[in-house]
Amino acid sequence: MLNIVLFGPPGAGKGTQSQKIIKKYGLIHLSTGQLMREHIAKNTDLGKQAQEDIDNGKLAPDNVAISIVKEQLDKARNPKGFIFDGFPRTVNQAIALDKLLKSKGWDIDALIMLEVDREELINRITRRSKTSGRVDDQDLEKIFTRIQVYKDQTLPVANYYKEQGKYEPIEGSNSIEGIFEKICSILDRYAS
Ligand code: AP5
Ligand code: MG
Repeated sequence: MLNIVLFGPPGAGKGTQSQKIIKKYGLIHLSTGQLMREHIAKNTDLGKQAQEDIDNGKLAPDNVAISIVKEQLDKARNPKGFIFDGFPRTVNQAIALDKLLKSKGWDIDALIMLEVDREELINRITRRSKTSGRVDDQDLEKIFTRIQVYKDQTLPVANYYKEQGKYEPIEGSNSIEGIFEKICSILDRYAS
């Protein structure tokens, strides 16, 4: 089994690289942002709890994120592994994830950090805002809030995995293919 946290600030390329990874390695993509947007679209209780925070670029409550992940883990039948995209986003979530995985005899292998500078993130999200339909892409203030929330609340998660010797940083500003190659060389190491 191969369980990877694909980590990085808003616009770092987590979703883009996840699509390529799941195709090549047969892993399950678990994006809490995407799943929350689906809950909002279906107007579920979890969606209602998350909507205001998501629209404003803040983090949804931990319990919402954890419930969504638990549901997906429980649903999977003999998975080859998971790409966690946008989760865990707080140290509380990281601790909860460890517990959930442990209860199934699973574990996180590594956290891959996509390092991209602020200007590039803002450019990418602004470009995407024309087609994404995402409320949180639509104005600069919200994009700034997301980047700040990442620094304040999410970056400590990287340390949590660093302390466990599971931290794999890579430069995330190159071409999509170039970044994917680097990711593959890391994954091949853990998969063998
Ligand atoms: P989420 O959906 O996770 O959004 P995010 O973290 O803000 O990241 P993005 O999806 O914007 O970027 P990405 O890293 O996936 O990059 P992408 O591949 O799209 O979360 C949204 C919200 O949901 C949060 O703010 C929060 O409210 C809530 N939420 C989610 N999870 C939560 C949790 N666990 N706890 C609490 N709340 C939670 O790429 C971006 C753009 O750049 C694309 O247009 C892409 O085509 C382009 N691009 C990608 N790579 C490259 C490249 N190498 N070169 C040039 N362009 C590139
Ligand atoms: Mg994404």
